[in-house]
Amino acid sequence: MEKMRKYEEIIMSIEKRVEQGLLDSGSKLPSIRTLSEELSCSKNTVIKAYEEMEKNHLIYSVPKSGYYVVEGNPFRKKRNSKVDKIDFLSAGPDPKSMPYLDFKHCINQAIEKYKEDMFIYSDIQGLYSLRLELARHLQDLQVFSVPERICVVTGSQQALHLLISLPFPNRKKNICVEQPTHPSMIESLKFQNVNTIGIEINKEGIDFKQLEDIFKHQDIKLFYTVSRFQNPTGYSYSNTEKKKLVELAQKYDVYIIEDDYMGDLDPNLKQDPMFAFDPSGRIIYTKSFSKVLFPGLRLGLAVLPEALIPLFLQAKFAADVHTPVLTQGALEIFLKSGMYDAHIKKMRDMYRRKGMLIQKAFREHLPTSVSYSKMVSGFYSTLELPRPLKAKQVIERLKEENLFVDDVGKMFLPEYQKDNMLRLSVSHVEEDLIDIGVRKLADVIRSLL
Ligand SMILES: Cc1ncc(COP(=O)(O)O)c(C=O)c1O
Repeated sequence: MEKMRKYEEIIMSIEKRVEQGLLDSGSKLPSIRTLSEELSCSKNTVIKAYEEMEKNHLIYSVPKSGYYVVEGNPFRKKRNSKVDKIDFLSAGPDPKSMPYLDFKHCINQAIEKYKEDMFIYSDIQGLYSLRLELARHLQDLQVFSVPERICVVTGSQQALHLLISLPFPNRKKNICVEQPTHPSMIESLKFQNVNTIGIEINKEGIDFKQLEDIFKHQDIKLFYTVSRFQNPTGYSYSNTEKKKLVELAQKYDVYIIEDDYMGDLDPNLKQDPMFAFDPSGRIIYTKSFSKVLFPGLRLGLAVLPEALIPLFLQAKFAADVHTPVLTQGALEIFLKSGMYDAHIKKMRDMYRRKGMLIQKAFREHLPTSVSYSKMVSGFYSTLELPRPLKAKQVIERLKEENLFVDDVGKMFLPEYQKDNMLRLSVSHVEEDLIDIGVRKLADVIRSLL
């Protein structure tokens, strides 16, 4: 379980005092020394908490006197402000935290820099200069590869869609996916009419014995897995589990698509992708720029085994010739300038905090009969409702409260359907509304039980 940082605890403790009426507009906050003694932490930690609140215009400082709550008590305003809508449904990144102006600047530069490339058809695999930059960027995620093995794709969805239908060197036919899983992958599988076998994933992960059995007996060409912050469960495999998956892939000659769409958001830098444990070249690594940048850019990448590259490029050519040069160029400039790294650091902090807040709210408010997934970052968590409650029924009631969540139903293959699961995404919900939203949700569930 991700622990709340000490300075964040201090901010919460001050908020609580305001809530309990112990502090009001203009009230003086405890001195740095008093609070550091009271909460058994260093003075520097208290200073960091106070500076953070000052930055957010909740308190102000008077030299040689101390810190005071801002007039009009913004803490209380923040809590009592009428909440119009709480949106745990939207799955895109938080628009308010997007580097729109920085990226606009990169697009303008890219138009100039790549105008020659825009007058002609470009490389099917993607601009070489971008792939070089992507290879550098992937090293931060412990993915060591070369530009020759990286394919730029029009959203990582394109890589998934194309790989489903390609013949693989293992000459096998069937695909195995976690259940539930990423709904666009389900759509692709249904659309291409592929024989697909599911394996249940829940808050404890998957049953490895069952997976081994599937690999052994079911002619599996490919296992599609989301290794971190799984959509929709939020589950992340441990390094030991990832090694085990790689071993099974080797033992039974199965390829794995490791969809690391939100790898950038992992606060635990010791977590490696499966790709890092794979000596046999059976892991296909995909990454998306839709969750930390703009989904509208349609930019993603796949790191492919050499044997698959010629056929993959043929399929990519047939699909869209190549990914637009302008957005590729802009991404390259954005990565090179260091803006991406700076942006990611902010995103990582924000989603770690949001993960912590929603887990805390789940623990404090949900009835014990509701099971919830544990996530430390990323967007998603799921709730499993006690029978006979159905997701649809709860979703309809929540709409009346202006609270929106998603039904996990569409994230299952037809044979594995469950109708009692909800997906919550924190990306569009302000931090101070997470607790309010979960409390409302818990009240609705209780009222229907
Ligand atoms: C598991 C998973 N992979 C990938 C993506 C992103 O796909 P794309 O890069 O095509 O936008 C998503 C988006 O929701 C997702 O949930």
